[in-house]
Amino acid sequence: MALPMQDQNLQQESRPKRTPEQLTRGNRYAYIVAAVAALGGLLFGYDTGVISGALLYLQPAFNLNSTTSEIAVSAVLVGAIIGAAAGGRLADGLGRKKALILLGIIFAIGAILTAIAPNLGFFIAFRIIVGFGIGAASMITPMYIAELAPPAIRGSLVTFFQLAVTVGIAVAYWVDLAFANAGMGWRPMFAVALIPGAFLAIGMLFLSETPRWLASRGRWDDASAALEHTVHGQEKQQELDDIRKTIEEEKKTSVQELLRPGLRLALLVGVGLAIFQQLVGINTVIYYAPTIFGYAGFSSASTAILATSVVGVVNVLSTILSLFLVDRVGRRPLLTFGIAGMVVTLTAMGIIFAIGPTHAGWFVLICLIVYIISFAIGMGPVFWLMTSELFPTRLRGSGASISSLCNWAANLAVSITFLTLINVAGKPSTFWIYAFLGVLAFIFCWVMVPETKGKTLEQIERYWKQGRRW
Ligand code: BGC
Repeated sequence: MALPMQDQNLQQESRPKRTPEQLTRGNRYAYIVAAVAALGGLLFGYDTGVISGALLYLQPAFNLNSTTSEIAVSAVLVGAIIGAAAGGRLADGLGRKKALILLGIIFAIGAILTAIAPNLGFFIAFRIIVGFGIGAASMITPMYIAELAPPAIRGSLVTFFQLAVTVGIAVAYWVDLAFANAGMGWRPMFAVALIPGAFLAIGMLFLSETPRWLASRGRWDDASAALEHTVHGQEKQQELDDIRKTIEEEKKTSVQELLRPGLRLALLVGVGLAIFQQLVGINTVIYYAPTIFGYAGFSSASTAILATSVVGVVNVLSTILSLFLVDRVGRRPLLTFGIAGMVVTLTAMGIIFAIGPTHAGWFVLICLIVYIISFAIGMGPVFWLMTSELFPTRLRGSGASISSLCNWAANLAVSITFLTLINVAGKPSTFWIYAFLGVLAFIFCWVMVPETKGKTLEQIERYWKQGRRW
C-alpha cells in the first residue's frame, strides 16, 4: 500500500543545503501542488458539510422520517468507506495524478447527478458515488502532497489538507445559507460542488505524477525529472536514494508486522484515536447542526443554517490556531484539554435540553461553539497528524489506511444512529451518552497516546518496541 503522509519530524540535517533561489522555486511549485491537491480536501469538507442545511429541505421534499433522514445523511459515508478501502489500490494502479483527475470527474458528475435526483433512491445512490470520491480523496490527496512536497515543508503542507477540509465544511454552510435565503432549496446546494470538482480535474492535468509512484514502476528517469520541480543536484540524488530504500523496505514488509508485540500497540493507538475521534459526536454537529438548532428553538431553516455557518467559521479559525500550537505545546495537552472541553459542553447541552429554558437556542449556540473549538484544537487535526507519525515508514501506508477506514466506519455508526438515539433516549441522554464516550476517549488518550512532538520516526518505533518507554 502506498504512503499517505510523510513524517513531520524527520530530521533533515544530513541533507545538503539549498540556495535561497532553489528553495523559493521548489517551494513555489510545492505550494501550487498543495493548492490544487487541497481542492481534494475542500471537496471532502464541502460534500460532507452540505448535507446539514440541505437536510431541512430534503425532509419535506422526499417525505423523510428520522430513519430515512439518517440514511440520506449517511449514504455518503458508505461510499467513503468503499473509497477509502479502494483509494490505495487506485492510486497505486493508475498513479496519483490520474487517480486525482478521475476523482475530480467523479465529484463533478456526482454533484450534478445528486442535484437532479428525482427521488430518495437515486439521491442515495448518487451520494454513495460522491462518497466514494470523498473516501478516496481522503487517502490520495495527502499522499500526493506528501510525495511531491520538498521535505522541509512537507509537514505543514500535509496539515494544510486538514485545514482545507474545515474550509470546505464552512463554505458548504455559507452556500447552504445563500440558497436557503434565496428560497432555492437543496438542489443547487449540491450542484455547486461541480466547480471545485472541475478545477481539481483540470488543475491536475498541469501537474506532474509523483516521483515515488514513477519509481515504483521502475521509471527512474521520469522520477528524476518529476523531482527536478522541487529539489536539485545532490539533494535530488539523496531523495532518489531515500525513495529506493523505502520501496525496497516495503517489499520486505508485510502488514502482519503491525500485529506483532510492540507495533500492535501503535496500531491500537491509531485505531483507538480514529474511533474516539468520531464517538465524541463531532459529525452529529457537522451534519445535523441546523437540526439541533431547530430543536433549540431556531424556528426558520435560514436562522438555523445561519447559526451553523458561524460554527463552520469557528471550526476553521480554531484549526488554524491548532496548527500553530501543535508543535509548540505538543499533541497530548491539545488532545486532553480539547476532549475535556467537549465533555463539559456535551454535558451542558444535555442539561439545557433537560430543563429547556426559553432562549435555549443561544445557550446551544454558545455550547456548540465551545465544543467545536475544543474539537478543532485537539482531536480534529491531532488524529490525522498522528496517523502519519505513529508507524514506521515501511508500515505507514497500511497503518494510516487501517486507521482512516476505522474513522469512516465509526463516523457511519454515529451518523446513522443519531436521530434514532434522540427518539429513543431523548435529547438530554443522547448528549450525555456522547459526553460519557468523551470521558472514555479522555482516559484512552491519557493512558495510551504518547507525546510525539519533536521525536523522529526511529525514536517512535523504539518507543513501541521497548514497551512504551522513550
Ligand atoms: C473529521 C471529520 C469531521 C471534520 C470536522 C475531521 O478531522 O475526521 O469527520 O467532519 O474533522 O472538521
